[in-house]
Amino acid sequence: MDGLKRQAAAQALEHVQDGMKLGLGTGSTARHFVELLGERVAGGMKVIGVPTSEATRAQAEACNIPLTTLDEVDRLDLTVDGADEVDPALNLIKGGGGALLREKIVAAASDRMIVIADDTKWVDVLGRFPLPVEVIPFGLAATQRAMAAAFAQSGVSGQMGLRKGRDGHVFVTDGGHWIVDAHLGRIADAPRLAGLLSLIPGVVEHGLFIGLASTAVLAGAQGIRVVE
Ligand code: 5RP
Repeated sequence: MDGLKRQAAAQALEHVQDGMKLGLGTGSTARHFVELLGERVAGGMKVIGVPTSEATRAQAEACNIPLTTLDEVDRLDLTVDGADEVDPALNLIKGGGGALLREKIVAAASDRMIVIADDTKWVDVLGRFPLPVEVIPFGLAATQRAMAAAFAQSGVSGQMGLRKGRDGHVFVTDGGHWIVDAHLGRIADAPRLAGLLSLIPGVVEHGLFIGLASTAVLAGAQGIRVVE
């Protein structure tokens, strides 16, 4: 699987041109992209990146990729990031790695977003992967009740669980928030659910990326498939 992730990352790298301002994604697939980009930078390519997590920042710095922030640049030319699920409309579930808030801010500030993944991430309908929802710790139970109501209104239901880290403690995001993972099964109307979740005060952001991705590069045993 790691080889497929690297192939997808290498294919996305072909879309990077000298002088571009790039959003740098988070996760094991995006990690390949950052590493390959670092090799291009070492070879003289001039780009500047905005990392979507502290982990990606550390990796990009180690690769000597020049970094900036969204306070210093207006728009980004391209973001390259992984995903937990991709559907035929190029709507995504993201946040398995816990970086969904910065990932969405960076993707929304980009002219294009290329999703890189192995082809196991391709689904007909989003929802097999638990939907990550980043929440404020204050009032968690009230937020979860509101989330359950939003699920019911959009025709889905399922268990919710507060994400724990490997150390068994509550997972804390780069923004200091918590993540509730919602096991929903099939999300028939993802845009509707996305809109409803965005209305809940305790929800900082959710992992439904609707209309943000322009291209998906999916690597599988039969080769690479590009969906636009
Ligand atoms: C992190 C993400 C990742 O892009 C997503 O979890 C995919 O990760 P990986 O490439 O390791 O499968 O959304 O928040």
